[in-house]
Amino acid sequence: MPAARYLVAILVAGAAGCGNGGDPGGAIDVDAKPVARDAYAKPIGAAADPGYARADDAYRHRLIETFTSITPENAMKWAVVHPAEGRFEFDDADALVDFARRTGKRVRGHPLVWDVQLPEWLTERDWRPAQLRRVLARHIRALVHRYRGRVDEWDVVNEPLADDGGFAKNVWFRTLGPAYVAYAFRVARRADPSARLFINEIDAETGRKSLAYLRLVVELKRRGVPIDGVGFQNHTTGKDAAGPARLRALFTAVGRLGLAGAITEMDVGATEEGRQARVYRDAAEACAAAANCTGLTVWGVTDRFSWLEPQSRALPFDEGGEPKPALRALVEPLRRR
Ligand code: G3I
Repeated sequence: MPAARYLVAILVAGAAGCGNGGDPGGAIDVDAKPVARDAYAKPIGAAADPGYARADDAYRHRLIETFTSITPENAMKWAVVHPAEGRFEFDDADALVDFARRTGKRVRGHPLVWDVQLPEWLTERDWRPAQLRRVLARHIRALVHRYRGRVDEWDVVNEPLADDGGFAKNVWFRTLGPAYVAYAFRVARRADPSARLFINEIDAETGRKSLAYLRLVVELKRRGVPIDGVGFQNHTTGKDAAGPARLRALFTAVGRLGLAGAITEMDVGATEEGRQARVYRDAAEACAAAANCTGLTVWGVTDRFSWLEPQSRALPFDEGGEPKPALRALVEPLRRR
């Protein structure tokens, strides 16, 4: 379980007397040579967690040396930054954004609106629409203002769709209807006119949900919603992976709408290393070939701290931080010649 591993990481940090003297907060050490910010033709990112980065040397070193972009894995989620109504706690998010600045990395903010890891004060109350809209706007403004100029790309709305392609019946949809999506984008745009604003979806690379996702994006564009990009998470396996032609078609489809695309949360579980490397290479090549691809992010750094079980071995670095064939496959197509 991710939560169990998080606790292990904290214990490891305490036992090892890590760079912060056992203090779970504070700055993340930069004790390796950061990869050049322009090493790749497009940013190659990783989801990062400040607790893991402080506690585990291999995790931190690979993060510093390999990736040119960071997405906070959990540090910007509602339950973390907005634990009580109107009270914000930015320690973890600040630590990551500051670490990104000191190591020359881009930041993708994630997520402004989602229905997971919400605080109880939000989920355990019946909201009137006007009240919930105010709460939502206040939250979006607080984050986007704070990181203006430091977060290049925001996942404004994360996973709005259910598996069947309809809207997820979450607190936002139940209270505000589908209009919550457009509202969130409008508030975010006003809060930072220069950040690129993305929608982001899981399991939307192929099949019925993929079509529903593209239809939703078409509709948002038609209504003049200020959206700049479309995220394809690409959590996948050796068996279910979208092939290269499909990935290229997705970038082309959103490009025709005048939008950017990105692979935002990739991992490739439950397969052998050769096949895994092929799947990573297909995605990296698709991103490299698409003028509108703004980057490829993997969801974690080493298998030890993947949100999936370590035995899924879904990431380009193994549990000890050793590179797998997937790393070369990911980096080669995007490396500047
Ligand atoms: O940090 C708390 C800790 O204080 C608490 O004691 C413990 C008790 O459960 O929970 C800890 O938080 C957990 C957190 O991970 C850190 O480990 C949450 O319960 C747990 O729900 C959370 O899981 C995250 C999940 O999103 C839900 O937010 C995963 O790490 C994270 O990898 C995963 O990422 C999502 C993307 O944001 C969106 N797309 C899918 C992707 C994978 O599910």
